[in-house]
Amino acid sequence: DKVVLAYSGGLDTSVDIHWLQENYDVDVVAISVDVGQPETDGEEIVARAYRNGAIRADFFDVRKEFVEEYVWPLVKANGMYQDVYPLSTAIARPLMAKTLVKIAHEEGAKYIAHGCTGKGNDQVRFDAGIKAQDPNLEIIAPQREWIASRDDEIDYAAEHGIEIKAKKNSPYSRDENLWGASCECGALENAWDEPPEGVWIHTVAPEKAPNTPTYVEIGFEKGIPVSLDGKEMDGVELIDRLNKIAGENGVGRIDHVEDRLVGIKSRETYECPAAVVIIAAHKAIESMTLQREVLDFKKTLEQKFTRMVYDGQWFGGLREPINAFIDKTQEFVTGTVRVKLFKGSVTIVGRKSPVSLYDTGLATYSKDTVDTFDHKAAMGFIYVWGLPDQTAARAHTPEKKQ
Ligand code: ARG
Ligand code: SIN
Repeated sequence: DKVVLAYSGGLDTSVDIHWLQENYDVDVVAISVDVGQPETDGEEIVARAYRNGAIRADFFDVRKEFVEEYVWPLVKANGMYQDVYPLSTAIARPLMAKTLVKIAHEEGAKYIAHGCTGKGNDQVRFDAGIKAQDPNLEIIAPQREWIASRDDEIDYAAEHGIEIKAKKNSPYSRDENLWGASCECGALENAWDEPPEGVWIHTVAPEKAPNTPTYVEIGFEKGIPVSLDGKEMDGVELIDRLNKIAGENGVGRIDHVEDRLVGIKSRETYECPAAVVIIAAHKAIESMTLQREVLDFKKTLEQKFTRMVYDGQWFGGLREPINAFIDKTQEFVTGTVRVKLFKGSVTIVGRKSPVSLYDTGLATYSKDTVDTFDHKAAMGFIYVWGLPDQTAARAHTPEKKQ
């Protein structure tokens, strides 16, 4: 039998190749998916998987699909789990699960394996996501069956001649992609302690950021960012650049006690500079182009969509209908937002749209602008609007109340 392993090239999944062969007597197909994690040398990762005994190893660059089919729908939904986490890890899992299933079918594999532990959300996203695509595939999660510490895994590697990437012993568990980086464990487990500076690897400390602000202009078309500072570019490049610009200004650091799906509260930190800026800008262009009723109603569906992404229900029946609604609302979410980045803060300072619902003539209090609002109509409107309460006040006089 064959197993398709979600292989990152790190310690866990390198050890897993051997562990799977030993414990399940299977051939291992090691698959790496590039969703924009930094410093990925695909050739090196593939070569190492072969040296560690994989019968096939492959590296797929799916960054474009990741941005267009997963990240952009999340932006349209202003996706922030518990109002602070842009779902950077969560949103990559369905595409990984999809890639793994595709390879499993190609290879006629019976199993899919991943390196998630039994305490986290990622196991749910993988297992449920894979089963929702093909219930006949079986899942193996070595780190869930075999509760080994980092040191145990290093010993196991030495014992079995497994080559692991020489890496500075990090006390943290990290997951990274284009949409952001997650960090947990180590010193972070004490929720009262400020995260040590070593936690942050993609952003400058706000106090060390430049003393003058940086301005960026983000252009949106139908809810999707399409340009940066007037220059049209593809989503991967736009996010990549914005991560750098915002990160240099100390933007995007998040420190959060989060509710996992498995019932555990967990202290985690995230670095998501581009995500934080893009969602703030997206909300700003929506506030100019959407009617109040749409904004209000959309919020409840945004929350539902966000929860579905977090809870691993991407392949469930509710995502597409909700997506269809959200997509429809984005028809006129077009325009440009001007954002000021300064020592960790993100401030929206300007917005414009060719389909703006903001009408200076209606809004103005200035003598120099032609006022198009019908002031007399306000009186008639208020009379009708207030009529039910006026009627009640007449009927329910204090003496009638008791
Ligand atoms: N708690 C976050 C989530 O569930 C991040 C998980 C990070 N994953 C990891 N393998 N370190 O989306
Ligand atoms: C893991 O435990 O595998 C990572 C953390 C998570 O999935 O939330």
